[in-house]
Amino acid sequence: MTAQYQVHGDVAIITLNNPPVNGLGLSTRLGITDGMAQANADAAVKSIIITGAGKAFSGGADIKEFGSPKAGQEPNLLSVISVLENSAKPVIAAIHTVAMGGGLELALGCHYRIAAPGTSVALPEVKLGLIPGAGGTQRLPRVLGVEAALNMIVSGEPVKSEMLAMLPGQKLFDKMSASAESLAEEALAFARSVADVRPLPLVRDLKCRHPQGDAYFQFARNMVKGMSKNFPAPAKCVDIVEIATKKKFDDGMAAERDIFLNLMLTSESKALRHLFLAERAASKIPDVPSDTAQRTINSIAVIGAGTMGGGIAMNFLNAGIPVKMLEMKQEALDRGVATIRKNYEAQVKKGKLKQDKYDQRMALLTTTLSYDDLSGTDMVIEAVFEEIGVKEAVFKELDRVMKPGAILASNTSTLDVDKIASFTKRPQDVVGLHFFSPANVMKLLEVVRGKETAKDVMATVMSVAKKIRKTAVVSGVCDGFIGNRMIEQYGRQGGFLLDEGCTPAQVDKAMEKFGMAMGPFRMGDLAGNDIGWAIRKRRYQEKPNMKYSKTADLLCEKGRFGQKTGAGWYDYVAGKRDAIPNAEVVTMIEEHRKALGITPRKISDEEIVQRLVFSLVNEAAHILEEGIANKASDIDIVYIFGYGFPAHRGGPMNYADQVGLFNVVQAMNRFALNPLDDAQFWKPAPLLARLAAEGKTFN
Ligand code: NAI
Repeated sequence: MTAQYQVHGDVAIITLNNPPVNGLGLSTRLGITDGMAQANADAAVKSIIITGAGKAFSGGADIKEFGSPKAGQEPNLLSVISVLENSAKPVIAAIHTVAMGGGLELALGCHYRIAAPGTSVALPEVKLGLIPGAGGTQRLPRVLGVEAALNMIVSGEPVKSEMLAMLPGQKLFDKMSASAESLAEEALAFARSVADVRPLPLVRDLKCRHPQGDAYFQFARNMVKGMSKNFPAPAKCVDIVEIATKKKFDDGMAAERDIFLNLMLTSESKALRHLFLAERAASKIPDVPSDTAQRTINSIAVIGAGTMGGGIAMNFLNAGIPVKMLEMKQEALDRGVATIRKNYEAQVKKGKLKQDKYDQRMALLTTTLSYDDLSGTDMVIEAVFEEIGVKEAVFKELDRVMKPGAILASNTSTLDVDKIASFTKRPQDVVGLHFFSPANVMKLLEVVRGKETAKDVMATVMSVAKKIRKTAVVSGVCDGFIGNRMIEQYGRQGGFLLDEGCTPAQVDKAMEKFGMAMGPFRMGDLAGNDIGWAIRKRRYQEKPNMKYSKTADLLCEKGRFGQKTGAGWYDYVAGKRDAIPNAEVVTMIEEHRKALGITPRKISDEEIVQRLVFSLVNEAAHILEEGIANKASDIDIVYIFGYGFPAHRGGPMNYADQVGLFNVVQAMNRFALNPLDDAQFWKPAPLLARLAAEGKTFN
């Protein structure tokens, strides 16, 4: 049982004990109802305290039970709350550290609540595309007032208990303890002070009104509509809180249940729940157990103070880890440090960073021109020019100076990490850490595991990633790793679409309507079209039979590299990021089409989306089958956090699963018949074909 029962004189204490956050799994729920039965049967007990052991009152649902039959098994949370409400003896929630989701709903079912300052209080269900489902939507407005409650429910964000305690007229907390340490003592005294109160107060009996309800809810609806266009749950939060103000409590509870169950079935909620679990799963590597001993990383070095080196350094400075930057010339170091300063100063100006924090971070940064100065650092990340000869020189130096056991990482985006490892006599210590630009902003980190990378190196870098607040996904060694290998196919399809009749703006608009942060051509302009050009030139040598549209090359021959040159697929005005369609580019595409003898056709948005997204999916299926990615959900994480794939679609693999793999394969077979496309590519990857035939999914 994951809840303990104790008696202190005339007070029974039920302590939730289900680490890490006292999730309300079946055994915890049973522990509560058993404790309640025992306390009510014991004549010596006059009142009952419910509290949590360790680092939480309760974080809510037990994620280990997600999707399992146990989640709904009786006593479910609604039944537990009903046991509390119907207790003949007063029940007091003693709340500390974390009271979220079902944990807060449980507390709201108690007769009284005493809270420690510093407690994070939230109903975060909206973040999973849901509304609270155990009375939170009906009880919270009754104790906090409609507006404060709706803000919490619709944002899902935690609020500190002391802030809530200051709300005028609030009835969420009957008492605040003086400190977290004194909570237990004060809860006991409080429990004794209410032992004889009858009838016992119930949140459900409180009134729930808003003096200008119609106007307020209209306003709230408009706000929410603008902020959450792809998600149904936030609007439902407004509806259900309005119901709390208009209907009887039990009718409100029935409405909450209906809405909750309907949202559970939406593709948006499924996508968000998938991502929630996928993000947790990404940090787990099948053959590297979570108890693998880790190396100590207290300082790092960064080689190269360019675009990536500077951003990478900032991640560590932000986390309080000292960074030593090395360059070939003092000017390059000065430039790199100045850029870091400029970035931080912009944050200070915007009020996002306090001056003393800025000073602390800069104090952690040192620079050098000499490799010998790096010998004391625990880990080094190389971010020099993307040329194998330069990498070789750098890794030979690192091999010479770094202490035994130091981790040697490369930020290469295309080069072979095994080859880089072979430049050293310690390939087991070498790993790829592929950051995304801007490295201090983008959440994704591809951790590239070489043939010989040691398990403790993998375990260490995954935990370092967490420290610098990155979402890390493991990739095997291949050209482009997971993300860029897939994007190459996506880019190729984009080119074919132009040849067949689309404009860049039409393709981008279709993809942005699907939900991508940016269509492929705007993305190309942002990343720099010259990068793709360089890769294609290499491909023309390596894979002479691979089919490419030449349009992007023509664009680059005109020097239209994108935002950095003020012109790419679109035009740009200095200082702005708006993409302005350019007639010359459209003419260039038309003339190229004519030269190829292609009669343009009208291509539907649906075809655009399917060809681009399914090209990702087919390449991803190869990646999975080759073991480059450990699991399909890792690929979804790469695309959501690194490439602007819409969260409400749950990533390309989740999207394909929802469309149905049979349908995906049918579409690919159709695309293969298009003589202007690449029939060879559209042959479904064996894994995809097999799953589709068996009626299975990736995830
Ligand atoms: P960059 O050209 O902005 O910076 C490279 C820096 O390395 C320059 O400051 C240069 O002076 C320095 N450098 C060159 N050779 C050196 C050496 N032997 N010793 C010390 N310093 C040296 O390049 P960027 O964009 O920062 O790229 C660096 C690495 O990161 C490359 O491997 C690139 O493929 C990778 N990368 C780049 C991304 C991007 O979007 N720019 C994204 C992810 C990875």
